[in-house]
Amino acid sequence: MSMKIVSFKQDPKQSKFDQLFSIQEAKSVKAFHESLPNYKATPLQELKRLSSELGVKGIYVKDESYRFGLNAFKGLGGSYALAKVIANTLNISLDDVQQVKPNTFTFVTATDGNHGRGVAWAAQNLQQKAVVYMPKGSAQERLDNIRKLGATAEITDLNYDDTVRFAKEQADINGWTLVQDTAWPGYEEIPAWIMQGYMTLALEAVEALGDVKPTHIFLQAGVGAMAGALTGFFHDIYQTELPVITYVEPNQADCLFKTAEANDGKLHAVEGDLDSIMAGLCCGEVCTVGWEQIRQHGSHFVSCPDFIAADGMRVLGNPLPGDTPIISGESGAVTTGLVYNLLTKPEFITYKEQIGLSDNSVILCISTEGDTDKENYRRVVWEGAYPKQ
Ligand SMILES: Cc1ncc(COP(=O)(O)O)c(C=O)c1O
Repeated sequence: MSMKIVSFKQDPKQSKFDQLFSIQEAKSVKAFHESLPNYKATPLQELKRLSSELGVKGIYVKDESYRFGLNAFKGLGGSYALAKVIANTLNISLDDVQQVKPNTFTFVTATDGNHGRGVAWAAQNLQQKAVVYMPKGSAQERLDNIRKLGATAEITDLNYDDTVRFAKEQADINGWTLVQDTAWPGYEEIPAWIMQGYMTLALEAVEALGDVKPTHIFLQAGVGAMAGALTGFFHDIYQTELPVITYVEPNQADCLFKTAEANDGKLHAVEGDLDSIMAGLCCGEVCTVGWEQIRQHGSHFVSCPDFIAADGMRVLGNPLPGDTPIISGESGAVTTGLVYNLLTKPEFITYKEQIGLSDNSVILCISTEGDTDKENYRRVVWEGAYPKQ
């Protein structure tokens, strides 16, 4: 399937969630993360040689493979949400959640890997229990990494969205707390905390950028929770000078793209196996809380074939001399892969113009994961799998 783009007519109506994604909230969430023992801001790499090669003013990539030793950004959401659940349930402050009796809570979630690993890690830190369900086709390595953190974990026979429903049923039956990284009507408080957790990476990026202001931000999306949180935050930072934000999804699971394309006030889902190498982005149903930010401030939506992600993995892992290599997995690399294709391939020139990329552009991408599936990483980067079709 080829690449598709849709430019979006924003809906300026404010949402009740807007204040959750303010600079002030981001600062207090980051202060929480800073209190965790192994907190360290992840690097923001300026790829100077790549930007001059591709004819733009700047390309910056935030490397989330360094996050908490978890090889992906997702632990930011899990750690903040678990602490908030405990603090709210027991009516204690976030500073006191470490003192809670072990095994008081059982947290349950569905995951393609990264979120479940983050929840398992956060539960282990707090000496609480975690149960994790994964969709069919999940990589054994990702399951093993979750089990290593002490969680009970298994791969189901369901696709991602049905695995989420299964996790919810298990929570209802067993009296566990569902900590899901997507929201739907009636289930929005915990996902909103998870989303707030993601703001730490955006605040770190803004701090590292200093006086540099991006003109274009590319955000990959599964359900759009991360993209929504960052959109709200960037809007609060940049206000009327908000950079052009483009959302990037695999074309097998492009629920935000379909929602933007229809632009009829409804959310549009994608069903079926959602088969793409971008496992973290293989989600068919849009996160309601995320969409409230995206519909207000988003500009473009791109639906991508797998080779775009593969290109990004190769470009980031094998940089021009002088640029720092970034080990970026399928879901992490797709935005840089898109930027590379837009700026080098004549067949994408109209897309490049549509997004408004020029020699004055300063681009920010987030490499949201490292090589979380090492076998596939080598297949792509060493063996050249997923060449351009
Ligand atoms: C590596 C990676 N990047 C991006 C995402 C997308 O996040 P969201 O589902 O909030 O859109 C995920 C989600 O699991 C992920 O694992």
